[in-house]
Amino acid sequence: MPIADFNDRMLSLGLARVSEAAALASATLIGRGDEKAADQAAVNAMREQLNKLDIAGVVVIGEGERDEAPMLFIGEEVGSGKGPGVDIALDPLEGTTLTAKDMPNALTVIAMGPRGSMLHAPDVYMDKLAIGPGFRDGVVTMDMSPSERVSALAAAKGCSTEDITVCVLERPRHEAMIAELRGTGAAIRLITDGDVAGVMHCAESATTGIDMYMGSGGAPEGVLAAAALKCMGGQMFGKLLFRNDDERGRASKAGITNFDRVYTRDDMVTSDVIFAATGVTDGSLLQGIRREPGFLTAETILMRSKTGSVRRMTYRNPV
Ligand code: FBP
Repeated sequence: MPIADFNDRMLSLGLARVSEAAALASATLIGRGDEKAADQAAVNAMREQLNKLDIAGVVVIGEGERDEAPMLFIGEEVGSGKGPGVDIALDPLEGTTLTAKDMPNALTVIAMGPRGSMLHAPDVYMDKLAIGPGFRDGVVTMDMSPSERVSALAAAKGCSTEDITVCVLERPRHEAMIAELRGTGAAIRLITDGDVAGVMHCAESATTGIDMYMGSGGAPEGVLAAAALKCMGGQMFGKLLFRNDDERGRASKAGITNFDRVYTRDDMVTSDVIFAATGVTDGSLLQGIRREPGFLTAETILMRSKTGSVRRMTYRNPV
């Protein structure tokens, strides 16, 4: 029988071990050109460690639908079954290509909250917009054009549009948006993958140099990013994008009825959650796995939205 209380304080420490385990498992596959093997190693390790936690967990954002992902699929029950009933959003390796090519900002990511706390986002695209903390609500909106967003954020920051840096996934579908952003004089940090990290970068703009994230990427990654920002502070908006009836069907199956809804951060993550991410390759927020003879070292960021606490942990593990 699951326990009702979600003891996030103690559970968060266990969550850090879960994201650490996935990152450590992918260590020997960094830069080896094999996305699938790196992902599989991370999935296996994350699942094994997750099943050691005293939770009655259900994966709501995972590796895919049950028929396409044998492990950590949506709906899979995880944990010992003895603890609180929780929902889990995870991405055992966010940036499989980044890992295979040893490029920056690959992470392992997991968020946990009470049942019903996170949007069951189908595996479709999501149009995303994010900024860091310290701005009035709605200073930038989905209704604004990309250039209006840059102007609005610059005005709110009291700086020129040329002092704003926007992070965007480098994709052909973003060419028009990138051209419009360039017209404002803003700088664009193009990333080849990894938009969970891209959004998180907005919350620590003094360190990362990124003020705003925009563009489309995976909807599951959108919910994970919203969970991170709920802990770190910052605003985020997301709108699901559908290319065909199959994708609309996936959304209906996930319980979504309004296909045009713009979700805020707190619509995507409706109550307090805990979030852990471990660096796989070096990035602006987290150091990647360090390998030295006999040891592996991993850096994890562990956060609780209830308190806004952000803990950074370095774990050196003999191998
Ligand atoms: P994987 O780790 O599954 O390869 O996803 C990486 C990623 O870049 C996400 O961060 C992003 O949301 C999505 O892929 C973008 O999708 P696409 O490559 O189709 O533009």
